[in-house]
This record gives sequence, structure tokens and C-alpha cells, in this order.
Amino acid sequence: MKIRDEFLPMNRPSIGEAEISAVTACLRSRWITTGALCKTFEEKFQELTGAKYAVSLASGTAGMDILLTALGIGAGDEVITPSLTFASTINMIALHGARPVFVDIDYDTLLVNADAVEALITPRTKAIIPVHFGGAPADMHKIQEIAGRHKLIVIEDAAHAAGTWYRGIHAGGFGEIAIFSFHPIKNITTGEGGLITHNDEELERKLRLLRFHGIERDAWKRYGKGGNPEYDIEAPGWKYNMTDLQAALGNVQFDRLGEFNRRRAEIVSLYEKGLGDIAGLELTADPDYPHLHAHHLFVVKVHGIKRGLFMEKLSEYNIGYGLHFPPCHLLKYVKERCGAAFLPETERVADKIISLPLFPEMTDDDAGYVCEAIREILK
Ligand SMILES: Cc1ncc(COP(=O)(O)O)c(C=O)c1O
Repeated sequence: MKIRDEFLPMNRPSIGEAEISAVTACLRSRWITTGALCKTFEEKFQELTGAKYAVSLASGTAGMDILLTALGIGAGDEVITPSLTFASTINMIALHGARPVFVDIDYDTLLVNADAVEALITPRTKAIIPVHFGGAPADMHKIQEIAGRHKLIVIEDAAHAAGTWYRGIHAGGFGEIAIFSFHPIKNITTGEGGLITHNDEELERKLRLLRFHGIERDAWKRYGKGGNPEYDIEAPGWKYNMTDLQAALGNVQFDRLGEFNRRRAEIVSLYEKGLGDIAGLELTADPDYPHLHAHHLFVVKVHGIKRGLFMEKLSEYNIGYGLHFPPCHLLKYVKERCGAAFLPETERVADKIISLPLFPEMTDDDAGYVCEAIREILK
């Protein structure tokens, strides 16, 4: 086959004229930090998830940081989460002095093995953080049932889950706490950004204080007409607010979420047809409960050859790839602090998983090219 001239990245955000106009209009308005556009963005997520509150933020990581503080999770506490996740979660747990306790995944779906959670619970356990990995929902009802019995907090890691539904409920809509991310790789982006959804009035007050220096009101209320610029601070906070420039982009992206995810699903079905029968390659299975997949990632397991060589070959074919994720329990500092963990399924996938290109602007031909290249590489 002929090698394409243009590099096909693993991901590229879809930024159209509508996004550019919205950001330009925000610039022209001269109100570029947190304001009315952030409020609109928050309302869109309240409506999507059904959660009572939504707090827009600088990133998903920022969300985890203030959430752990607001919930009082720190030294001596344990938090159960998969190792197959982004290091940001583990970093935040570690920076708060708590200990991540890793739960294994299901080999086929790469999702948290909910049946393995209960055995990890100790008197020190405070929270469970399931990940809606790659846009597929974790088994929320099972996790909620276990958390309910042991009085544990559930924090959905919904970084991959804009457009993820489980038994008719959108991520963030389970009456728990959820954190979304809008990094440029995500299904919708604000450049960088994050958002927490939840239902607790007192938590809402704390999160809003912690998000902005511990100050009671947002800048737009202090500096607007008739606003009171005086403030007092009950407890110190961070500077983790989203800006209206980000929300201007995010509001348009949000309105295109359905269009984006439908296109992602089309590409995935081309991949399934084109890659399903290749020996040496295993596709990620969908969970068997009712759900709608957001198809954030398309992760395959490579058996035919070593993954390093497979990556080299993909590069030769001008195809990008990603790694979601190097398991956290094998990261240097985590190993040193937490010691060994018994995660046979996570370790079984660790050196096989690789994420193939998946983004709405990919053409059918791009997907066909990837399938043909992989067939040739693994021949
Ligand atoms: C599973 C998961 N959790 C959390 C995050 C953190 O989000 P952010 O990059 O917005 O801080 C990411 C981001 O890639 C992620 O993939």
C-alpha cells in the first residue's frame, strides 16, 4: 500500500467557525475571565447530567484537588481507584497525603472490576473513584451499592465521559460527584478546563470558595455595576476558575457534542469492521449493561508483535497513536510509596494497549487507511 504523505494524528479537536466567532465575540466584549459564559457552560452540564450543581474549573485535575480538600480526604485516608487511569488522579491523592488503593480492571472492557472493590475496603477507605474509561461507563449501580453499604464517597472520573450514558443516566447524574475534563483531546474542549457536578449545597459553597482564593464571590460579581469589591477569607483557596474565553469555546463545543459523538461512533464501526478479524489484534469489548458509549478513545491490544515495534511501524505509515495509560501502580514514585499491588488484569494489558486515531474530523478513508496499514503491519 502507498504510505500517506500527511501525518494522521491520534487526536485533533474540531474547531469550526462557530467556535472562532464565539471566542472572538468574547474578546470583543472585553470580559474574558470568569463570567456569564462560564455560568452558561455550567448550566448546560446541570441540564445534561441532571445534577443540582456544576462548578467550572481550570482543569479536571484542579477539580480533584479542591474536591479532596473540600471532602477532607488527606493523611491516613485511602482512596480506591483503578491503576489504569491518568496519573493526575493519583498525583492529587498523593499530594493530599492520602493513599491510592488500586482496583483491578476487567481485561476485555478495561473498566473497573466492580466486583473487586469490596475486598479492598478498610476502615481507612474514604472514597471510590471509578473511571468511565475511554467513554464507556463504569458499572455505577454496582459501585454505588457497595459505596452505600460502606458509607463511602463516590467520585466519578468523567474525564472521558461527555456523552456517556449508563442505563439511561448520563455520567454525573447518579447523585454522586463527577469530574469532567475539557483538555483538547477530550470529546469537547475548552482548551484546558474541567467541571465538577454534584448535589450538595454545603459542598457547593466549599468548592466555589476553594476555586477562587477562598473569596465568597466571583470577580464578575465584585467588579460589575453595584458590586462590592470588599472581601474576607474564611480559609485559603486556589486560583482554579475557568475563564469566559474558555467557556466561549466550550459552549459551542457542548452544542456540537451529539454531532461529534455520532461521528466518533461511525469511525469506531469502520474500525470494528476493518480490524475485527486481524490476528494479533484484540478490540476493547463494550460492557454488557445498557449504555451509550462516548467513544472517547479507541484502544486495542496488540499481541502479534511487541508494542514498541508496532508503534514504530505506525509511525512509518504516518499514523499517530496514544497510550492510555501506563498503569499508575508501576510509576516510579507510586511503586516507592505504595509498594507492589496485585493487579493481574491491569498488568496483562499494560504492554499491549495502544490508542488509535479517533476524532470527528477523521474521514472514512483515514479510518480505512489505518485498518489497511495495521493489517499489513501484523501480516
Ligand atoms: C482519566 C482521566 N482523569 C483525569 C484527567 C485530568 O483532566 P485534566 O487534564 O483536565 O486535568 C484526565 C485527563 O487526561 C484523564 O484522562
